[in-house]
Amino acid sequence: MTTKSHYEELKEKIHFHNYRYHVLDAPVISDAEFDKLLNELKRIEAEHPDWITADSPTRRAGAKPAERFDKVRHPAPILSLANAFGADDARAWLERVTRLDDRVEKAKFVVEPKIDGLSVVLHYRDGIFVQGATRGDGEVGEDITQNLRTIRSIPLRIPVKGQTSKVEKKPSTFDLRPPTNLVVRGEAFMPVKEFEALNRKLEEAGEKTYQNPRNTAAGSLRQLDPELTASRPLTILVYQIVHSEGGKVPTSQWEILEYLKALGFPVTDVAKRFDNFDKAIAYTESWEKKRDSLSYETDGMVIKIDDLTLAAELGFVGKDPRGAIAFKFPAREVTTKLLDIRVSVGRTGVLIPNAVLEPVEIGGVIVERATLHNFDYIAEKDIRIGDRVLVKRAGEVIPYVIGPVVDARTGKEKKYKPITTCPSCRQPVEHIEGEVAWYCVNAACPAQLVRNVEHFVSRGAMDINGLGTKIVEKLIETGKVKDVADIYTLARADILDAVTKKDRKTDKEPPGKIAENLLSAIEASRSQPLSRLIAALGIHGVGEVMAGDLASTFPDLDALSKAKADDLLQIEGVGPNTAEGIVDWFSRPFNQKVLKKLKSVGMWPKGGKSKVESRKSNAFEGLTFVVTGTLPTFSRDDAKAFIESHGGKVTDSVSKKTSYLVLGESPGSKFDKANSLGIKIVGEEELKKLAK
Ligand code: IVH
Repeated sequence: MTTKSHYEELKEKIHFHNYRYHVLDAPVISDAEFDKLLNELKRIEAEHPDWITADSPTRRAGAKPAERFDKVRHPAPILSLANAFGADDARAWLERVTRLDDRVEKAKFVVEPKIDGLSVVLHYRDGIFVQGATRGDGEVGEDITQNLRTIRSIPLRIPVKGQTSKVEKKPSTFDLRPPTNLVVRGEAFMPVKEFEALNRKLEEAGEKTYQNPRNTAAGSLRQLDPELTASRPLTILVYQIVHSEGGKVPTSQWEILEYLKALGFPVTDVAKRFDNFDKAIAYTESWEKKRDSLSYETDGMVIKIDDLTLAAELGFVGKDPRGAIAFKFPAREVTTKLLDIRVSVGRTGVLIPNAVLEPVEIGGVIVERATLHNFDYIAEKDIRIGDRVLVKRAGEVIPYVIGPVVDARTGKEKKYKPITTCPSCRQPVEHIEGEVAWYCVNAACPAQLVRNVEHFVSRGAMDINGLGTKIVEKLIETGKVKDVADIYTLARADILDAVTKKDRKTDKEPPGKIAENLLSAIEASRSQPLSRLIAALGIHGVGEVMAGDLASTFPDLDALSKAKADDLLQIEGVGPNTAEGIVDWFSRPFNQKVLKKLKSVGMWPKGGKSKVESRKSNAFEGLTFVVTGTLPTFSRDDAKAFIESHGGKVTDSVSKKTSYLVLGESPGSKFDKANSLGIKIVGEEELKKLAK
């Protein structure tokens, strides 16, 4: 029998491991072990629903979309900051406040990064996270508790037990019984890398991309569906105690940061305390050059008087407290002239308009190109050629055009007409219903062909090592490769011709060796199964899993090419758009020619029968699996084959119909989605056990 104390212990354990993973980024157990604990908790909660409390790790997800946000009155005003532009400005601030109170002369200062995110306010009652709100107008915000719960670095209960002895070198000197009522403030944000990955995914899917990490974070939190928030890689850094009752909290900013950290909150590790203002300025300025090394966007540093009693006594001007100042870094938004709009072609044929700009320096880098995202964006923002445009470059993000400076128009600007033919092959471009993107659908398009070949040889496809972009471009340029089938008729001399110095690993590596390695990689790829070949063709909407389903349904590419949309719709996971996409791909004369050539060079693997022939058991009959992350021993193909050999199905995306998520290392958003839907999660080992 499960006891309540076992349940409580388990909850603490999970909070601790969650903290190690999401706050410290230093897990001490594997994902599969973590899932096991979480599944055990879910099992107990199913048996004892009356035990469940708001701080249960299972409560992070699964909340229903809200109809609207309630209003939350903040217990104290959520203040803003006055800005200083440069060291002189900051010194002027210091002089002003010293004139008001000479204790500032001896003050210490804490310097923190100014995180460019969304300010949020978190309420803890008796150590349990009970409410979270946006800043709103500083007096009243919106209740976004359910959305904030999905951010795993926000502790659902403080202190997170067990962390102090392991995390802090010395045991904490703080009284870690938190006040009965504790309200803290922090900045929720999306790390730049995650933002870029999200945008790449949206762009490939032909969907609308986001402008910047800040808007994405704000948009993800200020919308009504917690499931969507859960799927967004958001995190938080906490820096202020807004209010506390029933307990003591530190009275210096430096100690506040240490105290919040000791309670289990994520706190910046960039903050430093100085007993001299010049040193604080020097440290602040040193981050201007290093700002891109931070995982988040920052528009400056905040310099705070460490003594919070003194800071409070200085009062405020409007909504800006006198006790702190935002030291702003030079803007990364500048205006320049939009000279032209040129369109580039992506792998799927997606057409991306790019701005050609009058060269301009932004944050030490000369920018001449910037993305315009898609044609709708240009129309919505009414961006015209000849316009002065506002351009932003931040971190590693590709510079982008924010919009036109309408007041600077002379009347000579020209409205942009979206292209109707591909800039590379001049074939008509097409639009897919429901997507913002336009595509070049000509598979022989040279620009697209480079991307297609890159995809064809990639690891999840035919896995041909050694065909880098430069060689591919050369082979296409010299007419040796007109489609992917030509890879199989390449001669040694063709490769030697195409090998430039750049492709050699070392100068010593003879071109002959490169050619031999490549030829043997091409030869090895001849034994790839049908599923890989289908995935390699790059049909819109057909990923690795779908390719596997098609390969086990159809005996070969002839059969697949004759399939009607209705036949394809019978396959689980194939929706109308994908079915159309497949039929359309096979109907194109160019693709038919490629297939003919593949057949003639002997690239015609058989599929179809594997499912029934290799059936080992029916243990997974009627069950649907999704695989995410890297599994310890199984490759994706192995896992799929294993599941299918026991009668199960594997699909690409998590939905309510998914029976299990098979979880490996570094999972993607599928993990969050599965969690939010309460789907059972297993590791490779458990998967094998389930099949027995
Ligand atoms: S302190 C009295 N510290 O910047 C406390 N703010 O431009 C005032 N921000 O509204 C805020 N990082 O949303 C503070 N380390 C940090 C911050 C920070 C980002 C935001 C905050 C504030 C805005 C002011």
